[in-house]
Amino acid sequence: MLLMLVGLPARGKTFIGRKLARYLSWLGYRTRVFNVGSYRRERLGSYQPHSFFSPDNLRGEEARRRLAELALEDALGWFSGVGDVAIYDATNTTRERRDFVRHRAEREGIKVLCIETICDDEAIIEQNIRETKLTSPDYLGIDPEQAVRDFRARIDHYARVYEPVGEDEGAYIKVVNVGRQVVTHRLQGYLPGRLVFFLMNLHIVPRPLWLTRHGESLYNLEGRIGGDAELSPRGERYAQALTGWMHDHATGEYGVWTSTLRRAAQTARHLPVPAVAWRALDEIDAGVCDGMTYEQVREELPQEFEARQRDKLRFRYPRGESYEDVIQRLEPVIIELERQQNPVLVVTHRAVLRALYAYFMDRPPEDCTRLDIPLHTVLELTPRAYGCEEKLHPIAV
Ligand code: F6P
Repeated sequence: MLLMLVGLPARGKTFIGRKLARYLSWLGYRTRVFNVGSYRRERLGSYQPHSFFSPDNLRGEEARRRLAELALEDALGWFSGVGDVAIYDATNTTRERRDFVRHRAEREGIKVLCIETICDDEAIIEQNIRETKLTSPDYLGIDPEQAVRDFRARIDHYARVYEPVGEDEGAYIKVVNVGRQVVTHRLQGYLPGRLVFFLMNLHIVPRPLWLTRHGESLYNLEGRIGGDAELSPRGERYAQALTGWMHDHATGEYGVWTSTLRRAAQTARHLPVPAVAWRALDEIDAGVCDGMTYEQVREELPQEFEARQRDKLRFRYPRGESYEDVIQRLEPVIIELERQQNPVLVVTHRAVLRALYAYFMDRPPEDCTRLDIPLHTVLELTPRAYGCEEKLHPIAV
């Protein structure tokens, strides 16, 4: 499926395109963004004055059309390789351009879904210009006030020719003011429905997310996997130290989410906020290996041990789960985390944290299945316009 983004500059198309790409890739759809602005910067250099974007500038218009077609051909090529979803990130503000894209894609048998971002909230537009456009390579080394004026003139050029997506243009989703309103038209199928659900829960209020494993458990001491062990004395010290850490770091209200397992609940029990226990945050189910050490698995189930070494993401423990299964069950947690306006502390387990980390840091899940997630450490993630900042806070106990 080709997701064709539509909208004036500074309406959050790239923000939404990247978020969708991250979400879909994490769910296992091979997704890539084709951003026409990047094609322009690569081929014509970063800075183009606003006049380049004027509909009266015929040479500029011709150059922009060629770049849009180049990016579109690459996006279509993605499907003849490995791709499942291409996100075509351009303004696509005229009916003519959208018809061209749709016909070209449909000739290749590829379905098109328009996602139009509409924003009439001046504060959001201003924030978008200042946070993303002024730091973009388009305006490198240019005085910020001059850059804002130039960018606003660029928006005006597009506004003169902008035709909102019409009801006779097939399936679309319109996202108004970053999810305050979402309008859908002729959507069919599972994936588009999922996209709507995701888009409905987006917002741009910055807030940190704190992720931590539970404190050391009695099973950790014995090197056993799974189970429902209690905290060790050291783990209990972490539970207390974590409460102190949150007292020093969390300034306003925050939420606390744990798994339903005892070691996670015990880690959160001294916090001043009652924890919400999610089954979806429980550790990977090791099935018949639950309670074993890795050494035992290697000796007693050598084939399974080998298979897991070979493909940790897809290997499913007999009568248990794979990392892919964990990702699927975490989807509602991700949607809820996206929706929260307050910070959240998530107390959970190693495999679950790896899967959450892959989502927030936009890393291929297979890269994260071996990621070191130490005990007694808070991982602080702060979402920014186009990604997350990451800080590790080890807590000595
Ligand atoms: O050892 C702690 C633990 O959380 C186990 O309960 C779980 O099976 C394991 O880590 C997950 O890590 P890995 O996927 O590397 O085995």
